[in-house]
Amino acid sequence: MRQPLVVGNWKMNGRVGEAEELAEAIAEAELDWDHVGAGICPPFPLIDRVAGTVGDSPVAWGAQNMHAEDGGAFTGEVHGPLLRDLGCTYVIVGHSERREHFGETNQQVAAKFFAAKRNGLVPIVCVGETEAERDAGRAEAVVRDQVQAVLGDGKEDVFRDAVIAYEPVWAIGTGRTATPEQAQEMHALIRDLVKAGYPVTGQSLKILYGGSMKAASAPELMAQDDIDGGLIGGASLKADEFIGILRAAVASDL
Ligand code: PGA
Repeated sequence: MRQPLVVGNWKMNGRVGEAEELAEAIAEAELDWDHVGAGICPPFPLIDRVAGTVGDSPVAWGAQNMHAEDGGAFTGEVHGPLLRDLGCTYVIVGHSERREHFGETNQQVAAKFFAAKRNGLVPIVCVGETEAERDAGRAEAVVRDQVQAVLGDGKEDVFRDAVIAYEPVWAIGTGRTATPEQAQEMHALIRDLVKAGYPVTGQSLKILYGGSMKAASAPELMAQDDIDGGLIGGASLKADEFIGILRAAVASDL
């Protein structure tokens, strides 16, 4: 059994006081923490505050992005060794907003993925098609390419100690969640791709769903065989909603 994982992606939201309040509420939630992993990815300057707030509670923390190099003249960027120093467990790479607004390519996403691994961070690599791609019947091909860019020549078991998040772009921040069937179909495809070369890793790999997941829609999504939790945007900014999703994850593991 794969233990479910729920990670909050705060995006470019939150001020110092709010961040501490939210992180504290999550860390103090009364939950059966043996049945769920939880993480919070705040904006870079808040990582240390969140870390200090959640302390040694079961809640881990991480970053929303990183640079592929381990240091150097890259103004405004943040490197893996620093995230490691800050105690980050996770780093999100290849979020669709990075792909769309900052032009990140599959190759750049793959480079970040490997930089994360090199630095002992667990990459959460995001994949997912746009609405136009789905309408054109290309959803599977797009997701396949995005996963393949990280798999490369398949000579290495790259997805061991990594997480994949399937986030259909048309469902992110829109209130339009993929149906559990649509999500399950894509999760199964992703798992099969990994399993083809690495059956053990494919079986144990956590594949999170992201895209307007709420406490109300989480149980049905998480009941699907290949959905192992969620990468949560909007609903991660409200303690009650996020804790509700964590509860759904716990229930899916019992
Ligand atoms: P959403 O965002 O939950 O607000 O749709 C998910 C994400 O972008 O990771």
